[in-house]
Amino acid sequence: MKVGRVTLSDRASAGIYADLSGPEIERVFRAAWTGPCEFVTRLLPDERERIAEALRALCDEERCALVITTGGTGPMPRDVTPEATRAVLEKELPGFGEAMRMHSFAKVPTAILSRATAGIRGRTLILNLPGNPRAIGECLPPLVPAIREALRHLEEPA
Ligand code: MTE
Repeated sequence: MKVGRVTLSDRASAGIYADLSGPEIERVFRAAWTGPCEFVTRLLPDERERIAEALRALCDEERCALVITTGGTGPMPRDVTPEATRAVLEKELPGFGEAMRMHSFAKVPTAILSRATAGIRGRTLILNLPGNPRAIGECLPPLVPAIREALRHLEEPA
């Protein structure tokens, strides 16, 4: 399965610090997913049009089954990942964001600052995660059964 992982961070993309979140997506997803996956990686600044363009290319040209983003979901002016994601989605699946906030809130009260969402473009599921590397291990594993089911539906003939 082809999986896109996209890190959105002005500072990581400028080389000010290392991108820890992108590799963490790969580590956590491989541990939770049975079956081989090949990752296509992107590291971009928090710029809405560039994010939307990268998401479109991962769905329409790379034909990823799943694209997972990390970062840019918070309340700061430069946090535009959910807006860029919605701009390319055909159908939003708000339950993914709701579930990750609900699941994390009990342990991390600031989890509700994330506006992460998810949805479908063509035959690709796009999923936002917060940018904190620790958040990836907290948010992603509980979503795997719903990811698996969504991908099964997307594989079916139209
Ligand atoms: N969710 C979990 N599980 N763990 C976290 O540490 N950090 C929160 C929230 N969600 C966090 C989390 C914080 S402090 C912010 S500001 C938002 O995610 C948005 O982060 P982002 O802008 O890096 O995506």
